[in-house]
Amino acid sequence: MAPLRMVILGRQGSGKGTQSERLVQTFGCVHLSTGDVLRAAVAAGTELGRQAKAVMDSGGLVGDDIMNGIVRDRLAGADIAAGGVLLDGFPRTSDQADALEAILDGLGHRLDVAVNIDVPIEVVTARMLDRGRSDDTLEAIQRRLELYEEQTAPLLDWFDARGLLATIDGVGTPDEVFDRVVAAVERHRS
Ligand code: AP5
Ligand code: MG
Repeated sequence: MAPLRMVILGRQGSGKGTQSERLVQTFGCVHLSTGDVLRAAVAAGTELGRQAKAVMDSGGLVGDDIMNGIVRDRLAGADIAAGGVLLDGFPRTSDQADALEAILDGLGHRLDVAVNIDVPIEVVTARMLDRGRSDDTLEAIQRRLELYEEQTAPLLDWFDARGLLATIDGVGTPDEVFDRVVAAVERHRS
């Protein structure tokens, strides 16, 4: 089968990272989490990491130009050309969605599906407080969730208009949610 190219969507704490780890095992594609890229840059103490840390800890969004550049570079990689990609945490603004479309067009590729993991705000808030990442303070969580409603939720219509959107119920055990995500991917690929 052709390499899978998909996006995983959903509010912060909906389980995108959790499901992505399983999906890449099943489908053999490369997991590209822009949050993981930024956290690695922070850990390595690079210039990008220094700039990103304050923004991430406040729950804000790193600039579109920086994020689009990171994704453009990674999508051009031979591993992704051969194995496909699972985008996690990108796109999350309309500028990023337009950039993604242009980047994939330029490479002669297109997305198979965008799976939206739907989990209510109260549930994701509890999950994140439990997880305790350095940006999981109540203040930063609330800021991230506000920005999600403002900037990222409108992208659901953007994907739907392209026939790519599959929304699944993200409440349940990670195994139950995984079965729903895989079923949605299979439906869109066939
Ligand atoms: P990012 O790393 O993307 O974080 P986020 O958006 O806050 O999303 P999370 O990673 O918190 O949620 P998740 O859906 O992956 O949930 P998880 O699987 O961990 O971004 C971090 C920051 O980087 C941003 O705030 C921004 O500053 C910057 N950034 C990143 N990308 C950017 C971009 N494109 N543009 C601009 N800035 C960008 O699950 C959460 C918890 O729930 C875990 O503890 C997990 O174990 C648990 N859990 C998962 N599934 C279940 C389940 N079914 N039942 C019970 N518990 C579960
Ligand atoms: Mg994540």
